[in-house]
Amino acid sequence: GNKNINAKLVLLGDVGAGKSSLVLRFVKGQFVEFQESTIGAAFFSQTLAVNDATVKFEIWDTAGQERYHSLAPMYYRGAAAAIIVYDITNQASASFERAKKWVQELQAQGNPNMVMALAGNKADLLDARKVTAEASTLDAQVYAQENGLFFMETSAKTASNVNDIFYEIAKRLPRV
Ligand code: GTP
Ligand code: MG
Repeated sequence: GNKNINAKLVLLGDVGAGKSSLVLRFVKGQFVEFQESTIGAAFFSQTLAVNDATVKFEIWDTAGQERYHSLAPMYYRGAAAAIIVYDITNQASASFERAKKWVQELQAQGNPNMVMALAGNKADLLDARKVTAEASTLDAQVYAQENGLFFMETSAKTASNVNDIFYEIAKRLPRV
């Protein structure tokens, strides 16, 4: 029969990577060019139907600013899923490096069965990456594969792959 699953999901990543924008797109179907930087964290919920189940995501959109780092465990503790977001246009891959740090922290302190997705966000700005585009996508793919995440390039602006990433998580959640 159809199952109802409640899943706590946390978004982590560098300041400005687009965590809030991805959530706003997923939950409300909206995008704002001047999204305000998150203070502390924000809570949302959204339900998604997959083949055999209805998944209610309880979403914690955390703040990327370093001064909020110590709050993060409250949001990832007990989480069934995480989306680690980085900005693909970010100079010198600082945003990607920050994403890797979050993955390490989750691997060390998070729920070992956590479903983890890596989102390379702002894919609509693909051209801004110029020649490094393909190399950095490949890096992210290899990194994700080696660390047990799945990888998608997303755009909160165009909605590309936004529902898809939540859907892929929903499919991977344990059916208990
Ligand atoms: P913090 O809350 O400070 O940690 O940042 P955040 O990760 O929540 O980023 P936020 O969603 O606030 O987005 C930062 C800026 O990037 C905003 O001006 C957004 O409009 C913009 N932005 C987010 N996603 C996209 C995207 O997919 N494409 C483009 N072009 N801009 C985006
Ligand atoms: Mg935010």
